Amino acid sequence: MAKNIQAIRGMRDLLPDESPLWQFLEGRVKDVLDRYGYREIRTPILEMTELFRRSIGEVTDIVEKEMYTFQDRNGDSLTLRPEGTAGCVRAGIEKGLFHNQVQRLWYRGGMFRHERPQKGRYRQFHQIGAEAYGLAGPDIDLEMILISRRFWQALGLDGLELQVNTLGTVAERALYQERLVAYLSAHREQLDEESLRRLETNPLRILDAKNPAMKPLIDAAPTLLEHLGEASRQHFDAICQGLDDAGVACNVNPRLVRGLDYYSRTVFEWVTTRLGAQGTVCAGGRYDGLVEQLGGRPTPAIGFAMGVERLVALLQEQGAGQGLNNPHAYLVLAAGAPQQQGMLLAERLRDEIPGLRLISHCGGGSFKSQFKKADRSGAAYALVLGEDELARGVAGIKPLREQAEQREIPFDGLKGFFLSEVF
Ligand code: HAM
Repeated sequence: MAKNIQAIRGMRDLLPDESPLWQFLEGRVKDVLDRYGYREIRTPILEMTELFRRSIGEVTDIVEKEMYTFQDRNGDSLTLRPEGTAGCVRAGIEKGLFHNQVQRLWYRGGMFRHERPQKGRYRQFHQIGAEAYGLAGPDIDLEMILISRRFWQALGLDGLELQVNTLGTVAERALYQERLVAYLSAHREQLDEESLRRLETNPLRILDAKNPAMKPLIDAAPTLLEHLGEASRQHFDAICQGLDDAGVACNVNPRLVRGLDYYSRTVFEWVTTRLGAQGTVCAGGRYDGLVEQLGGRPTPAIGFAMGVERLVALLQEQGAGQGLNNPHAYLVLAAGAPQQQGMLLAERLRDEIPGLRLISHCGGGSFKSQFKKADRSGAAYALVLGEDELARGVAGIKPLREQAEQREIPFDGLKGFFLSEVF
């Protein structure tokens, strides 16, 4: 027999047991974004490969090793988006969204990176991201961080830590890079193979190296904070002050460099220790040069993206999501007239009670087997319609989640019952 086809490694099905938690998360996050005036943008999953090369950077892990790139039937090189910022910028330039206007945008969807799969790291994963264009001051940086804090409040997540850093302007970073390369070159013998390679291609990423043997060397390295110009320093100080005023602990991490090349000045991450190695649930920063680099007019920009799988894992770890979206009632029906009339009764209840989640039993079977299904559905109540009940214009109501007798309610009283007992 042929072997069953399986999902691609690192790509997961979202099964119905888990989807209510995703919907809960997406709903809460969307509410918060609405409240700050962010509007949704949807861009294609496929883009020209060139877009990611020019934005994320040629010598980043993503572009060097992780992209799903292929030639289409016309011979064009296309790539499944590894992140959402590049597509947003491309769309904004192409559609003139950045001309003399501020844009506050958000997006969600699948992203693709050919990484080594492990807990919290997948090859198809989902992000919800926000981007703001046309605002250069530290106020929008602060807004971005406050939005993310509000997400955690809205989701009931705690224990997340904010880390912030500044990467300075391009010129400041270039100067700093020279100093860093000089320092690291003087200690070449302490660099591992990957870092020796990065010394030539992307030295800043060495600060992010995970090799514990290199920690003392990295800890003693010059920091970018010491090489900031006055304007960058003021920008960063204003953010730290704003965070302080808003009661957000501002942990400055001078080693936070991010894995994408487009950042300038502010970068930040929200991290947790509860998810093992993949503890960053939200990350972003300012990327003032990118719009121009991709052919648009100079436009200041800042944004972040959250990893939905990681946030869902965190919610699960906190025990959230039990019984979300369970039906309020499951309608158990005797064969014959109750079956036909029951469908109509169920329709009437759905008309009368917006938000009522009611499953009508389909497929017949004994009361016993229907009750089993009612129980398994997670419904709070079984609603029972037999010949006898139908004849008297009543329905049986049996609580399924607590010990209680079945009682009878006239059809006309069902609306009142659900409104008072269930909502
Ligand atoms: P990023 O740090 O590459 O930034 O990804 C953002 C978040 O996506 C990560 O913090 C993590 O939660 C999640 N994530 C990334 N890779 C994976 C994976 N393989 N499996 C599961 N989750 C993952 C960006 O993508 C930037 N576009 C963020 C941004 C927006 N910066 C400015 N605007």
